[in-house]
Amino acid sequence: MSENQVSAPIAAEPKPAGEEIVRVVDVQRIYPLGHDKVTALKGINLSVHLGELVGLMGRSGSGKTTLLNIIVGLDQATSGKVFIKGTDVTQLSDATLTELRRRLIGYVFQSFALIPVLSAVENVELPMHIAGVPRAERHRRAVELLQLVGLGKRMHHRPFELSGGEQQRVAIARALSNRPSLILADEPTGELDSTTGLQIMSLFRYIATSENVAVIIVTHDPTIMQIAHRTFEISDGVVNQIANPVPVS
Ligand SMILES: Nc1ncnc2c1ncn2[C@@H]1O[C@H](COP(=O)(O)OP(=O)(O)OP(=O)(O)O)[C@@H](O)[C@H]1O
Ligand SMILES: [Mg+2]
Repeated sequence: MSENQVSAPIAAEPKPAGEEIVRVVDVQRIYPLGHDKVTALKGINLSVHLGELVGLMGRSGSGKTTLLNIIVGLDQATSGKVFIKGTDVTQLSDATLTELRRRLIGYVFQSFALIPVLSAVENVELPMHIAGVPRAERHRRAVELLQLVGLGKRMHHRPFELSGGEQQRVAIARALSNRPSLILADEPTGELDSTTGLQIMSLFRYIATSENVAVIIVTHDPTIMQIAHRTFEISDGVVNQIANPVPVS
């Protein structure tokens, strides 16, 4: 994909959804608050498949981040279950959970969270370095991923030499480095202007399809409804689908 060509074409022919990668069953999250309690999630049911981009909307405080944190195992559901590739993550030890997260999940942050002293290619290589991937192989994959996100010509730039949209593309390439099955992105376009935000959302869609990854994007931007294969809203602690499904291409 070239630098300027980031919109994913909408396929005319729907194809069956891929393997189920996430299944959230009756998840409830209640936070104790002094003598009171906050019910962040009342009963969430959701399933996400490989190759699809899912949008998650909802007003501030509706529980979007809480749900992502529960899926990734950084927070614990009060009740209910979360299956990642068929494994119930609510039952795993911390060590097993960390390993599963490293192997299956990539995370993209609103603030990009790149290491400022490392170049784009070094930032993308870092998780593979930590995972023990040999030097030549991790460099080859990092270059390939930067080309995939349209940054082939910027790979030796450091974050401060890149625009916000370019930095987010580096972060997306980094999230893909360990070949995850699932990418979670919490407000990934929150610090970008609307045109750049749209390009980043389109890039996520392109990646979901071309890399056969499931992507969940939390956003306040209603444009997601035109880009995601399915969009949900969290309201009053439950999720409802709010946009017509776009066929998985
Ligand atoms: N650790 C915590 N302890 C107590 N209450 C919490 C905790 N984390 C979140 N909450 C509460 O749970 C609710 C959901 O919070 P959450 O951060 O998931 O919202 P959100 O949809 O991500 O909001 P935003 O769009 O502002 O990021 C809020 O009422 C919040 O105050
Ligand atoms: Mg949030």
